[in-house]
Amino acid sequence: MKPLLVALLVISVATIHSTEYGQRFLEQYQKILNPSNKYFSKEGVPYHSAETLVVESTDYGHETDSEAFSYNVYLKAMYGAIQGDFSPFNSAWDMIEKYMIPTLQPNTDRYNPANPGSSPGMAVGQDPLFNELKAAYGTNDIYIMHWLSDVDNIYGFGNVQGGCELGPDADGPSFVNLGSGSLWQGFNTPTCDNFRYGGENGFQFTTGTATKSYGYGAGPDAEARAIQAAFWASQWGQLNASLISNTLSKAAKLGDFLRYSFFDQHFKQVGNCIGKEACPGVADKSSAHYLISWGISWGGSLGEYGYHWRMGNSVCYYGYQNLVAAYGLLHESSMKPKAATAIDDWTKSLERQIEMYEYLQTKEGAFAAGVTNSWNKNYEDPPQEYKDSSFHGMWFDYKPGYADENPWFGFQAWTADRVAQYYYLTGDQRVKTIIQKWINWVISEITFDANGDFRMPASIKWQGLPPQTNITVTAYGQSIGSASATARTLSYYAAKANDAEVKAVAKKLLDALWNHHRTDRGIANTETMWSYTNFNNKLYIPLANWTGTYPNGDVINSDSTFLSVRSWFKQDPDWSIVQSYLDGGSPTKITIHRFWEQADVAIALGAYALLFNE
Ligand SMILES: *[C@@H]1O[C@H](CO)[C@@H](O)[C@H](O)[C@H]1NC(C)=O
Ligand SMILES: *[C@@H]1O[C@H](CO)[C@@H](O)[C@H](O)[C@H]1NC(C)=O
Ligand SMILES: *[C@@H]1O[C@H](CO)[C@@H](O)[C@H](O)[C@H]1NC(C)=O
Repeated sequence: MKPLLVALLVISVATIHSTEYGQRFLEQYQKILNPSNKYFSKEGVPYHSAETLVVESTDYGHETDSEAFSYNVYLKAMYGAIQGDFSPFNSAWDMIEKYMIPTLQPNTDRYNPANPGSSPGMAVGQDPLFNELKAAYGTNDIYIMHWLSDVDNIYGFGNVQGGCELGPDADGPSFVNLGSGSLWQGFNTPTCDNFRYGGENGFQFTTGTATKSYGYGAGPDAEARAIQAAFWASQWGQLNASLISNTLSKAAKLGDFLRYSFFDQHFKQVGNCIGKEACPGVADKSSAHYLISWGISWGGSLGEYGYHWRMGNSVCYYGYQNLVAAYGLLHESSMKPKAATAIDDWTKSLERQIEMYEYLQTKEGAFAAGVTNSWNKNYEDPPQEYKDSSFHGMWFDYKPGYADENPWFGFQAWTADRVAQYYYLTGDQRVKTIIQKWINWVISEITFDANGDFRMPASIKWQGLPPQTNITVTAYGQSIGSASATARTLSYYAAKANDAEVKAVAKKLLDALWNHHRTDRGIANTETMWSYTNFNNKLYIPLANWTGTYPNGDVINSDSTFLSVRSWFKQDPDWSIVQSYLDGGSPTKITIHRFWEQADVAIALGAYALLFNE
């Protein structure tokens, strides 16, 4: 496989940027990078979307998340492949370190891995990674991205890198957390809380005395995507190996720490884990499920002589798995993680991920849900039929993590893309069987109209228990990022299997995006934001009678609404459209350019150019 990639690289330097899809990549790339299109902050941080009045996974378009940073790395890796210049790739990784991996992690020197974090009424195991990570990297701190950032510090907490509640005048991206409750009921809270804002105890919803503290959470599919992108850079950038080797070693380090996502939330035994007390915490790796789970969280107290805690996550979702990240860490010598047992762990993870795809694949071909080691997130006793269909003693989770009952199709395309890339890299027949079945399904669900525009699944619903699950498409649509990720999946598969029909569908999807959805800022649709009636939703306040104040003076109490604690939305250039909808007008229509979708389209165009030299 390597000789093939080297050959591609040679083509790339000479001709790829002048192929049709190489040209399209560059056009899309230049739109994304054009400062007047507002994808990046003045620091160079990618926003969630160019537009600000966007409430979906983040509650403001100019917030950002670790996903956007991982897409930025992938986009710049592809730019290196097409143009032969890998310095933007290096800079994209620097942004991760500068703005998303928190440097404020007090009291990690007092962390006791034999007690990663006590919890009332819970048997908790030990953290088997800390000592070997410390030995390998000489640090007590975690090298993982916090998932959410308020890039323009619009909330005004001023949790800029290294600082704690420095306030509205602090310049730069500010770490924040989403509050509890659903998006439209929630309100953001600071990651580091020294009680300067909020209520008496800052944003800690407790009565009596409380401790000034900090807490971070990761969305580990983003770390995995960044590692996957670094792996591709290592292949595409072989002639620039010395230029990127430092970044590749950082990707390896990220892979080392990403193993925290392999562990049960409380380091309890994986498999038949029933009872908060009865299911034992364990000292060794029998607390690992080896899957890329829904999260990693860590935090501690702020004062001297304080404490620090860490947690894995018990819920593992199909959409987060990444065979290419595992493959890269195992097989690319410039990306080998240094800690003592990392190779062993990633070897197990690779196998376990493939097994999980097999377990979760529905009769039609799509993947269904995931598994959990903690029934109801509370180590309860699941119904017998779930026990009968278990996976390494874990149970099928109908609504894994915090996903909807009516899940988003995009996760299918995201994850299948990595399966297809892994098949492309290895030719593994077992994985070929999985991806072929998925591709047959998805192709049967995509239609093109007479003009060549596309329609494909937007949301899906699964039923049954493995191995008898089935899937129904509950809505069709024209999601930009789903289309590009699906096109890329088909491209990698077609290139390896030499399948002209599958390749033709990939091309038609890319052409549909190009011919029917191009705007002056990229590729997008005008969307009807039905959910924007929720601006007047009452907030969910986790503690009765709690009241607090935001840095700008907005008051949070039981009368507050989504909008009243975000009064700055009223200054948004697009606010009048929402206001007229709230006043009874027609639903808000806006064109949304999400950074991840723009990057995904560009990467799909670039991959098509590289794979087929077209
Ligand atoms: C990167 O590789 C290209 C050839 O692909 C070469 O022209 C360029 O000089 C290299 N850049 C560096 C900094 O080594
Ligand atoms: C899908 O699975 C459910 C639950 O097992 C079952 O009731 C239903 O008949 C299945 N539908 C199809 C089309 O197989
Ligand atoms: C909340 O405030 C109301 C009115 O002051 C009071 O009656 C009630 O007991 C309070 N509830 C709690 C849980 O403190």
